[in-house]
Amino acid sequence: MKILVTGGLGFIGSHTVVELQNVGFDVVIIDDLSNSSVEVIDGITTITNKKPLFEKLDLKIKSEVKDFFNRHNDIAGVIHFAASKAVGESVNDPLKYYENNINALIYVLQELTKLNKKNFIFSSSCTVYGQADELPITENAHVKPAESPYGNTKQIGEEIIRDTCRANGDVNAIALRYFNPIGAHPTAEIGELPVGVPQNLVPYITQTAIGIREKLSVFGGDYATRDGTCIRDYIHVVDLAKAHVVALQRLIGSKNDSNFEFFNLGTGTGSSVLEAIQSFEKVSGKKLKYQIEDRREGDVISAYAETSKANNILGWKTELTLDDAMASAWKWEQKIRNK
Ligand code: UD1
Repeated sequence: MKILVTGGLGFIGSHTVVELQNVGFDVVIIDDLSNSSVEVIDGITTITNKKPLFEKLDLKIKSEVKDFFNRHNDIAGVIHFAASKAVGESVNDPLKYYENNINALIYVLQELTKLNKKNFIFSSSCTVYGQADELPITENAHVKPAESPYGNTKQIGEEIIRDTCRANGDVNAIALRYFNPIGAHPTAEIGELPVGVPQNLVPYITQTAIGIREKLSVFGGDYATRDGTCIRDYIHVVDLAKAHVVALQRLIGSKNDSNFEFFNLGTGTGSSVLEAIQSFEKVSGKKLKYQIEDRREGDVISAYAETSKANNILGWKTELTLDDAMASAWKWEQKIRNK
């Protein structure tokens, strides 16, 4: 069965392509290479012994999307990762984010509705919950007004998909709300490749440990948490990738309860920034230089998932730990810097 993975050379996309190929799917990747590299294909091929098809394509160009689907009308499912994801950049350039994340989604959905098999998985985020009133966060928690244009594109994206499913009973979609994806493939053949100064915690930690950054700034040490730093649910990217395969198989096997479903993807356990640092220090054997500094604007204090819906209905749960994720991120950082 042929599966389209948009953004399939990105961090989560590439790990998902590996898991899809591992269970026998044929994958065609679309990526515009705006935040990824063609070399990722080599990493995927080394791990799986199978080279995925790849087309460089800009999903914002409607005619190109149409042309692609005309040539691939035998697609059995679409996993849509392609999107911009830098929160700060989205605040400065909201129109870029709306054009990139929303137009592309609409064009892909328009073509999906013409296929024989209309199965769609959407890359959403726990950012839709904002600072939830109750922890752990269940899927019933209210969607809060978005803190950033990036977050808003995830909320609007889910609404567009919900309306599309309502109007087209034969379209089946699942939105996966990720908590904090980290880590890399255990082979260190693929991993995260942040452009410029990393905004996210784990690549900042590994770049500091390897000497590219002087020290890690811990954003805020006076939150009302067990050690004063923010709490997040860090999920290993390989566990996350596997959830996409399970969700896709649910749609392909018509096991879904309704034609639009959404699931939290997290471990269920919250870790503070200091606990994440301790985990890194333990598995790497390196002391990390860090300093507690001012809070970062827009950060929620605490977010971790209630996972029983994904565990019971999707039939998926995480298998890897924070230590596993830190060890793989460190192995990856060392590999790319020694190239
Ligand atoms: C961020 C986005 C979220 C998005 C996700 C995608 C914000 C507010 N949220 O999540 O919408 O879906 O990335 O990957 O940007 N930290 C430090 N020092 C650093 C970097 C981070 O202390 O140099 C702390 C943060 O304050 C936070 C934790 O580490 O408590 C995790 O931060 P990060 O990796 O940026 O993820 P989120 O902010 O949770």
